[in-house]
Amino acid sequence: MEFFDSHAHYNDEKFDNDRNEVISSVKAEGITRLVSVGYSIESSIFAQKISEDYGFIYHSCGISPNDLPQTEQELWKNIEEIKKIAKQKHSKLVAIGEIGLDYYWNKENADLQRKAFIGQINLANECNLPIIIHTREAVADTIDILKNKQKSINTGIFHCCPLNRELVKEALKLGYYISFAGPITFKNSKNASEIIDMVPLEKILIETDSPYLSPEPNRGKRNDSRNVKFIAQKIADVKQIPLEEIAKITYENASRVFKI
Ligand code: NI
Repeated sequence: MEFFDSHAHYNDEKFDNDRNEVISSVKAEGITRLVSVGYSIESSIFAQKISEDYGFIYHSCGISPNDLPQTEQELWKNIEEIKKIAKQKHSKLVAIGEIGLDYYWNKENADLQRKAFIGQINLANECNLPIIIHTREAVADTIDILKNKQKSINTGIFHCCPLNRELVKEALKLGYYISFAGPITFKNSKNASEIIDMVPLEKILIETDSPYLSPEPNRGKRNDSRNVKFIAQKIADVKQIPLEEIAKITYENASRVFKI
């Protein structure tokens, strides 16, 4: 069985001591494609470097809402840097992201977050790439931007999708993919099954968001892509479809949205 982990951060410092070992074990356990996702200029450059070293790893570049500079002037400079990475036309660059809005960690710079989000959707359109969206406690503004302010031509992915009915309904209407992560396996996420049920098979992706958000039964430990099978299993249980099918469908879906 093969899996596609649609979102991981092997560019994170938590892998500095054993990055090569972990990546080799991941591949050996059947995770034969994954995207290492950027969240800042440095991490985006590093994600590209990792994808050059490993044939099965793809990458994205972008500035997350939690990695923004203080001023708008600096923001546009940073976006220029991301543009430089994107414009290299690196063959394994598959998306712009993660980008979006996070009013849970940062509320006071909401206006700057919206500008960064819109600016980077623009960049994705310019580069003919989909976007990877990070959204937290910002459902209304996220949907408003995607619907009314700046459409993403190649749509994209709601990464670690919040288990929010309204958001998922609107995201699907707009043609986005829903990527499920560790939280769907948590015992206290009561509506996980209901939300999984809402998403048609052809729109589901699976991800680990490594090194964060380890699923049950490894919750609390450092996460890596080997845990993606627990996410797939939860979806298989809810949809009452064999695990192999979920692995195959999510693999095809991820390959389609990333145009691999
Ligand atoms: Ni992430």
